[in-house]
Amino acid sequence: MPDVLITRRTFPAVLDLFERAGLTVDHNAADTPLSRAELAARLQGARALMPLLTDRVDAALLDAAPSLEIVANVAVGYDNVDVGAATARGIVVSNTPGVLTEATADLTMALLLAAARRLPEADAYTRAGRYQGWELFQPHLGLDVSGQTLGIAGMGRIGSAVARRAALGFNMPILYTSRSPVPAVEAELGARRVDLDTLLRESDFVSLHLPLTPETRHLIGAAQLALMKPTAILINTARGPIVDEAALVAALESGAIAGAALDVYEEEPAVHPGLPALHQHVVLAPHIGSATTRTRERMSLTAAANIVAVLGGGKAPNAVN
Ligand code: NAP
Ligand code: GLV
Repeated sequence: MPDVLITRRTFPAVLDLFERAGLTVDHNAADTPLSRAELAARLQGARALMPLLTDRVDAALLDAAPSLEIVANVAVGYDNVDVGAATARGIVVSNTPGVLTEATADLTMALLLAAARRLPEADAYTRAGRYQGWELFQPHLGLDVSGQTLGIAGMGRIGSAVARRAALGFNMPILYTSRSPVPAVEAELGARRVDLDTLLRESDFVSLHLPLTPETRHLIGAAQLALMKPTAILINTARGPIVDEAALVAALESGAIAGAALDVYEEEPAVHPGLPALHQHVVLAPHIGSATTRTRERMSLTAAANIVAVLGGGKAPNAVN
């Protein structure tokens, strides 16, 4: 039985790392998602599981894998893994913090700018041959970004990296929420910690960077959207279920808020049917926050390094339990 199950295609450097560590691998190089039954069957005898965030690792799956010592998620978010169930079975869970921070912050700024300046609409218009010349009242007049207030919910690694880009690059005043103060962003960027309602009321852009937990599920619903400015844009590169997507669609349709830039969805890969119909200041991306080749390789190598450490009798450098 192989030591490690890698649920989807991985990078050659990851396979090299396992080979150098003397570990055998069951690699789903075909890259088609494994069913729950296939996952359970291929986990028989495996000591490590290297899943993607699309693989649900729950108590039932862990029960089907009695030899498992570590679940090394290839993502920083680990809401797809039942960490409590893993802990109860003595299984380490690890994630990939840090290596994807800059790529995800870059994508967040790209989405913010694209939504404010209506880039997808303008691109489609130009490609369709509809550009007839510069006018004062062009069809894609947008919203200012520089100097506007950015509210960041969740001032962790990615939230701080976004704040730095916005404050230093775009001169944006920063408001933020987090359960504990983050003195570094207050000192470096003049960021101000406020409660969520104040952040929603005062921000021109609201960007979410929280983990998905029972506490943050539907943190942004109809009542919260109603607090936002009618000119404001919501950006979500965190996790879809943090936002009540039906309430968001209603707020966009009614003009309660001006726009949304989304990388994540409540029922991924499904997108709420109301969203694609909305174009003005609405940008939709297919969960590509960390999607640069270099970053995805670093995430995979981080997950693999955690496996090598645990199966070698050591501690996982990125254990979350
Ligand atoms: P992180 O460093 O742990 O930051 C999360 C922040 O949220 C922490 O500062 C935490 O601070 C705060 N927080 C947690 N619960 C909160 C609550 N109930 N209310 C207010 N603040 C809360 O994580 P990260 O590396 O920045 O990643 C953040 C999330 O981004 C991940 O969990 C993942 O879901 C998502 N992500 C998405 C992509 C993508 O491709 N779109 C890529 C990477 C990550 P306190 O504990 O002090 O509150
Ligand atoms: C991506 O969404 C991650 O959590 O790494």
